[in-house]
Amino acid sequence: MKTLASVITLLATLCLSKCQTTKPHILLIIADDFGYNDIGYHGSEIKTPNLDKLAGEGVKLENYYVQPICTHTRSQLMSGRYQIHTGLQHGVIRPPQPNGLPLDSAILPQKLKEVGYSTHAVGKWHLGFYKEEYLPTNRGFDSHFGYLTGAEDYFKHDRCFGAMCGTDLRDNMNPANYTGVYSTHLFAQKAAEEVNNHNTDKPLFLYLPFQSVHGPLQVPEQYTKPYMHIQDKQRRTYAGMVSAMDEAIGNLTDVFQKRGMWNNTLMVFSTDNGGQIHAGGNNFPLRGWKDSLWEGGVHGVGFVHGEMLKRKGTVSRDLIHVSDWFPTLISMVGGTLNGTKPLDGMDQWKTISEGSSPGPRQSILHNIDPMYPPVGQRVPSSPFDNRIRAAVRMGDWKLVTGFPGNGSWVPPPHMDSITLSKDSASKNIWLFNITEDPNEHNDVSGTYQHVVINMLELLAQYNKTAVPCRYPAMDSKANPKYHGGYWGPWE
Ligand SMILES: *[C@@H]1O[C@H](CO)[C@@H](O)[C@H](O)[C@H]1NC(C)=O
Ligand SMILES: *[C@@H]1O[C@H](CO)[C@@H](O)[C@H](O)[C@H]1NC(C)=O
Ligand SMILES: *[C@@H]1O[C@H](CO)[C@@H](O)[C@H](O)[C@H]1NC(C)=O
Ligand SMILES: *[C@@H]1O[C@H](CO)[C@@H](O)[C@H](O)[C@H]1NC(C)=O
Ligand SMILES: *[C@@H]1O[C@H](CO)[C@@H](O)[C@H](O)[C@H]1NC(C)=O
Ligand SMILES: *[C@@H]1O[C@H](CO)[C@@H](O)[C@H](O)[C@H]1NC(C)=O
Ligand SMILES: *[C@@H]1O[C@H](CO)[C@@H](O)[C@H](O)[C@H]1NC(C)=O
Repeated sequence: MKTLASVITLLATLCLSKCQTTKPHILLIIADDFGYNDIGYHGSEIKTPNLDKLAGEGVKLENYYVQPICTHTRSQLMSGRYQIHTGLQHGVIRPPQPNGLPLDSAILPQKLKEVGYSTHAVGKWHLGFYKEEYLPTNRGFDSHFGYLTGAEDYFKHDRCFGAMCGTDLRDNMNPANYTGVYSTHLFAQKAAEEVNNHNTDKPLFLYLPFQSVHGPLQVPEQYTKPYMHIQDKQRRTYAGMVSAMDEAIGNLTDVFQKRGMWNNTLMVFSTDNGGQIHAGGNNFPLRGWKDSLWEGGVHGVGFVHGEMLKRKGTVSRDLIHVSDWFPTLISMVGGTLNGTKPLDGMDQWKTISEGSSPGPRQSILHNIDPMYPPVGQRVPSSPFDNRIRAAVRMGDWKLVTGFPGNGSWVPPPHMDSITLSKDSASKNIWLFNITEDPNEHNDVSGTYQHVVINMLELLAQYNKTAVPCRYPAMDSKANPKYHGGYWGPWE
């Protein structure tokens, strides 16, 4: 009997350390400026076999929204909060701008750390660096390998802003020099090292915001070989860049598999915004592109993969927004949201995993940008100044005001020619039923005036909760020439 009891005790002790279900690893991959029409499963001429396979086995998010530009999307991904609540309503953070995602609300890696995660970031930050407090390693990441600004040379890892030039690559706080190594290879390698060095008793959070496929258009020649039939040189190079990223992601999943971690890994893939048509990207048949409030700027590519999804191989058509990842991931791992200011993101775990529909989200504030130059006339007695650049979604409806960006429909270069927008330069209100008209061809603002009024009222309500926009002047003290030739904190 004594032996049996001790065996049971021994088993129980073993079980406490080994039988506990470990929290899932999280692999969060962001592609930069990756367009709606640039992924294989949307019918692109660009081949993305690894992404297609992963998405096919997981849940494709086909009513998924991001923000029109880098800093906006990344700030919401990390904080779960809209631009109007962080002061980042206008533009991206420029390299010499003393600005950053405010420190007043806990962000994703901090909250994951609280519940036991090892947290590592490899790639682009773009959420501010003028003071050390804003760097990823001071905001919940155990490590960061990558760059701090928004774009740079893929091989030299340097960046000029006007006359200010410097290298932008760091290994944690330390300047790094990998001149000549293509960033997609470099980041894939560093990400693999994090996985290989990971102590699997702990859950891993690996954040991998690739430089791919933002301009400048650069890729090792081997990746453009399959695309010699694409006449347009920009599109051909871009296609090669997408292929390199797709290969990197395939390689990384192999590393997870070899370590036996893959079947306990939730992978999230998202673009940060629409493709840039002037740098090889494409969003056709959506209207507009990066940096606009048209669907081509904000209707993003995204999917989720993982054994823990209850329904796999499905497509979700529920409204999901990039601000939702924070509460969704924290809820999935059983964390808490204390220490955060009120969130705009919503917990979508059941929507994604179980397909429980409708999801919690009815509306999205795409943005209100008070610094964008106003357009046209204000509608008399409108509760919201419709000359101002803004857009909001409510169920099927989307209202756009002010100047949303160039509203042309631009197919990839080999297809038919561009359909130019016929809107007058002073037009400043559009209403679309996005469910019926996802490509924004039919403005119905004249037919549904009561809907327009309701949605202007909704914008006015959001506007009441807005904090002042923070867009400080460029600071010459940021110049890398004062900092050993590197972009880095200067205050
Ligand atoms: C990086 O190393 C290369 C040689 O490998 C050198 O030419 C270059 O100046 C170095 N860059 C920096 C920023 O130190
Ligand atoms: C993927 O792995 C192969 C084989 O190790 C390697 O040759 C290739 O460079 C890797 N690709 C990327 C993008 O890292
Ligand atoms: C995950 O894979 C490992 C190694 O292949 C296997 O031992 C384990 O049972 C798998 N776990 C699940 C939950 O499928
Ligand atoms: C949240 O609460 C936990 C437990 O009380 C605490 O350890 C943690 O510091 C809090 N987090 C924040 C960001 O306030
Ligand atoms: C938003 O609210 C501010 C402060 O009340 C006001 O000055 C501004 O005109 C409003 N913006 C719009 C677009 O109505
Ligand atoms: C909008 O973009 C298209 C495609 O680049 C271009 O041909 C057109 O001139 C632009 N329209 C305006 C008003 O800038
Ligand atoms: C939008 O269009 C869809 C598809 O035609 C329709 O089912 C839906 O009722 C419309 N929504 C509204 C709010 O009218």
